[in-house]
Amino acid sequence: MDFSELVKARYSVRAYRPDPVEEEKLHQVLEAARLAPTAANRQPFQLIVIQVAGREPELRCIYPRPWFTQAPLIVCICGVPANGWVRVDGKNYTDVDVAIAMDHLVLAATDLGLGTCWIAAFDPAAARQALGLPKGVEPIAFTPLGYPAGRPGPKQRKTLDELVRYERW
Ligand SMILES: Cc1cc2nc3c(=O)[nH]c(=O)nc-3n(C[C@H](O)[C@H](O)[C@H](O)COP(=O)(O)O)c2cc1C
Repeated sequence: MDFSELVKARYSVRAYRPDPVEEEKLHQVLEAARLAPTAANRQPFQLIVIQVAGREPELRCIYPRPWFTQAPLIVCICGVPANGWVRVDGKNYTDVDVAIAMDHLVLAATDLGLGTCWIAAFDPAAARQALGLPKGVEPIAFTPLGYPAGRPGPKQRKTLDELVRYERW
């Protein structure tokens, strides 16, 4: 897939087949996250790969949608703000770094025929408990990782006119 096909093909997958994810494909999506740019190259993130089988009850406490536990794997991306780059005005860029790494992972997964769905509306306390996260490691997003069972719907997006302002063009 070329890049413009890839960004059109990615969608939030909310139905998964139970088929396993090949080790090599898992490695490739994790590697794509590892190679993501981060502010000052601080890499203030951690990835946790969760095998769903047998852990459904605690995972449902994290995010109770049935499709969350349909794929064989779930990935959680965490930020470590103490390791993040901080601008002169005090703004910590950890969340930005985490988002870029997650987007690399998501696009790499799409390229390999795998589905993902960003999940931010999870219960952070349940996530901390289930994953044994120490203080200072903040869960930012989850995604299932597996083969899609459905098809994408039409994309609802604002127009470029609504999103872009050309300054002194
Ligand atoms: C930061 C972020 C958080 C999101 N959180 C959730 C979520 O908690 N649950 C969910 O079902 N989708 C979630 N989504 C998916 C969005 O709803 C989805 O990306 C958007 O509606 C556009 O649809 P598309 O991804 O299929 O193009 C999230 C997306 C982003 C980028």
